[in-house]
Amino acid sequence: MLDVAFSKPVPPKAGAVALLLAEEEALSGAGLALNEASGGAISRAIEVAGFKGQKGKTVLLFAPVEGLTRLLVVGLGKRADLTALTVEEAGGGIAAALSQEAQVTVLAEGLAASEAAHLGLGAVLRAYRFDLYRTKEKPEDKPKLTAITVQAEDHAKAKSAFAPLKAVAEGIYLARDLVTEPANVLTPPEMAERCRALTKLGVKVEIMGPKELEKLGFGALLGVSQGSVQEPRMVVMQWNGAGGRKPRKPLVFVGKGVTFDTGGISIKPASGMEDMKWDMAGAGAVVGLMAALAGRKAKADIVGLVGLVENMPSGSAQRPGDVVTSYSGQTIEVLNTDAEGRLVLADVLWYAQEKFDPALMVNLATLTGAIIVALGQEHGGMFSNDEELAQKLTSAGIATGEKLWRMPLGEAYDKAIKSDIADMKNIGGRHGSAIIAAQFIQRFVNNKPWAHLDIAGMAWSSKDAACVPKGATAYGVRLLDRLVRDHYEA
Ligand code: BES
Ligand code: MN
Ligand code: ZN
Repeated sequence: MLDVAFSKPVPPKAGAVALLLAEEEALSGAGLALNEASGGAISRAIEVAGFKGQKGKTVLLFAPVEGLTRLLVVGLGKRADLTALTVEEAGGGIAAALSQEAQVTVLAEGLAASEAAHLGLGAVLRAYRFDLYRTKEKPEDKPKLTAITVQAEDHAKAKSAFAPLKAVAEGIYLARDLVTEPANVLTPPEMAERCRALTKLGVKVEIMGPKELEKLGFGALLGVSQGSVQEPRMVVMQWNGAGGRKPRKPLVFVGKGVTFDTGGISIKPASGMEDMKWDMAGAGAVVGLMAALAGRKAKADIVGLVGLVENMPSGSAQRPGDVVTSYSGQTIEVLNTDAEGRLVLADVLWYAQEKFDPALMVNLATLTGAIIVALGQEHGGMFSNDEELAQKLTSAGIATGEKLWRMPLGEAYDKAIKSDIADMKNIGGRHGSAIIAAQFIQRFVNNKPWAHLDIAGMAWSSKDAACVPKGATAYGVRLLDRLVRDHYEA
């Protein structure tokens, strides 16, 4: 991970420099000094580029002053509109534009301590890269950036503000790694082993395999898994940070972890099927979230659960029309084996309630293509039976940039999953099918405040964003970390 340091403002003598400039503000302090040392090159470049400090705009100069390699002037927008997210985006922009520099000094005198910390977070999040399987990349093509120093008046305070943000970034990196790993590597047993590594952060990790799941009666989850040679797993991760002698009713987070979704016998078309390696992104976010919370020692009692299966067609695979008995006792007619995520969640959610009597539950899942049709790649879909939880999640989304849009639930939609021979079927019609999927899940929610986040459109990004390089986004980690931080810590 990119190393982020904070120091008092001192004139930079070597390496690359990023200079922050708010809209309609003139060069001052270190920026002004550099401009003078450069014989006015900076102000001339700004002038020629028509740069006025607008948010997202930058101007790049090469070797403007002896000793310095590059200088990037970064627009912050209006000072009065500055938010944590804006400075993060500036940090992300710096990491991207100066990725060929080994060391970058950011002149951020004007920023408050917490803003300086968020700038560091933005740079770290943008500098993420998954390099495991590149063996032939030329050195000149590799990013060089390894360290950034943010100069701020209140650098000691900025450093302590950065520590918990770094823990969250570690969680995000972990989630991105898991989501990016191909499905031949990241099988359910392998993903469970990677969950086990959270033990070193103080998380209690329990892993259940097919024997335990059969004994419990996880008929819905096991039906999905039965066509694969990969064994299923359920992982229960507990973080008890509230510090009470008896754990309070925990917050529970549940993730869909389909390590590959071929659709099963209701097989998907070949084109784009490779995307289904990231059908475990809900689970990846839950694992990353647990790492973040434990890493920053959140003062709350949290349980994360993930259901891990591979959905394959084979001689032993579940057939359309099969009826399975879920852990809740409710029976399900499986009319489409590609509607498998809800089957996995059904059993894990019921278990979570039986075992932990949670204060609330949030599940994350790349559940439906329909939510992408509805919301595109701008908002995750939120379904909830609880106004207060929905409101808190919406706010956390706005604060972190991981936005949510609430979708409806209702009796009329629930009718769509009436089965002729079992308690319910796993698909309804094509219309409103993201909502119907949510209704299905709600049948496994037992009078608890609950939210279902359909993140199918958010888990993977096809283009770079300021703090999210293209690929796995780890959507959900920041969102739920923020939910916990804002409302549930002692
Ligand atoms: N994992 C998919 C949903 C998905 C699609 C995620 C595209 C990300 C990108 C899910 O298991 C699925 O196959 N859903 C079906 C449900 C249908 C059979 C009712 C879908 O959305 O088409
Ligand atoms: Mn599917
Ligand atoms: Zn799926």
